[in-house]
Amino acid sequence: MDIDPWGSDSVDDYSKLFDEFGIDEFDVSDVPEPLDLMRRGIIFGERDYDLVKEAMREGEEFAALSGFMPSGNLHLGHLMVLRELVWHQQRGADTYFVVADLEAHSARGMSWEECERYAREYVLSLLALGFDPEKGTVYRQSDNDELRDLAFELGEQTNFNELNAIYGFDGETNIGHMQSTLTQAADILYPQLDEPKPTVIPVGTDQDPHLRLTRGLARRMRMFGVTEAYASFEIEDEHKSVVREAVKDTDGELTAEELAETVEDEELADRLRAGGDETLRARTRVLSRDAPDEAFDAVRDELEALGSVEPFDEHLDVYDADRERVEKVVREVEVEHGGYGFYPPSSFYHRFMTGLTGGKMSSSVPKSHIAVTDEPEDASEKVMSATTGGRETAEEQREKGGDPDDCPVYELYAYTVAKDDEHAERVYEECANGERLCGGCKSEAADLTADFLEEHQEARDEARETLEESDIEL
Ligand code: TRP
Ligand code: SF4
Repeated sequence: MDIDPWGSDSVDDYSKLFDEFGIDEFDVSDVPEPLDLMRRGIIFGERDYDLVKEAMREGEEFAALSGFMPSGNLHLGHLMVLRELVWHQQRGADTYFVVADLEAHSARGMSWEECERYAREYVLSLLALGFDPEKGTVYRQSDNDELRDLAFELGEQTNFNELNAIYGFDGETNIGHMQSTLTQAADILYPQLDEPKPTVIPVGTDQDPHLRLTRGLARRMRMFGVTEAYASFEIEDEHKSVVREAVKDTDGELTAEELAETVEDEELADRLRAGGDETLRARTRVLSRDAPDEAFDAVRDELEALGSVEPFDEHLDVYDADRERVEKVVREVEVEHGGYGFYPPSSFYHRFMTGLTGGKMSSSVPKSHIAVTDEPEDASEKVMSATTGGRETAEEQREKGGDPDDCPVYELYAYTVAKDDEHAERVYEECANGERLCGGCKSEAADLTADFLEEHQEARDEARETLEESDIEL
């Protein structure tokens, strides 16, 4: 399975994302005052979101950033990202909204004028949903020199083959489009330019390739890497858990060749045998990637205060020190010596809204979506003619129940218009057990959608003034 961020495929099996791409299941249990989208399982996956949760809990600095190509009507599906940004801002995040006009120009052929017009539309909804322009930042990619410089530097850390492998580009892909992936990587790291901090990128799953690229780049932009190690020689990441277990109770007593006799994996056994009678001992390894000598020496001095340090040519091993504290010290020294010290970007992923006509909700197919600027009556009509997860006949529906899991109307409730969790659950239950019929269900959703739009449009009107008065430049 490939993910194409510019394609029109919908994701039909979210569970594959966990196994194939290493996305973790989103755990709502330790999120303070979670967003409804988190509670209702619409936000389902994440990478490294713990970093952000911890910063939220500890009152430390953190950031949130996301954005869109200004390339079509803003619809209800887009509002998820905007609400996710506002929610983080309200919890203290340094929050950014990106107008991805370079991407829209290169990948969608949008003119700069069109970009500006759509950008305004998007920002009005962002403000209407409660974004505070005094505390947060809105920028256009084309207008941000620092961003473009960072994108250029990131370009030095990747090559054609890597981009092709991640995005499925080939010799026909235009260079501007390729560059736009580096611009997006720069967006993702932009909140950390002044100072490294945990940063969450809330997106739909189609954006995950950009996160994979950027997580690799963030690592390569560091002067130092911090890893777990057990011997002077390297052990592959996939084998570390076996060694970790073995060393837990035998720290400094078991030799590599002794452990080799007991492990099943041949590759690991060979590696350990080559290690001979060196005793295995847990340690934190700090690797230098072209770090200047002064930085390397400074790291060693600082770490000596934390534990015992064994220096090698290109790395240091630190014993009896907490890994997180080592990481913190290393990052600080790196930044003092002019490095970036990037945290790997965190992300979380929401399910896409299904189009009202089935398939993916798309801004280029008006009937598939409800645009935030649709007339409320028109929107109601779209809801009334939506496909549903209902049965052929009312009788059959009463008997067997409908399928809310395969119904864009149910999604309207769950994602946007339900009054509260209880309401969303009731719709689900009543549909599944046959108490609810599609006609009535749709007209309830249609009314709620019209109400929602009226309210949102009023808030957008008020936001026009806020936009004029703010220092947001589009
Ligand atoms: N690629 C995104 C889209 O297709 C827009 C985007 C650009 C973005 N930079 C970003 C999203 C950074 C999240 C984070 O709409
Ligand atoms: Fe969808 Fe409502 Fe029909 Fe159930 S009753 S299938 S939720 S429209």
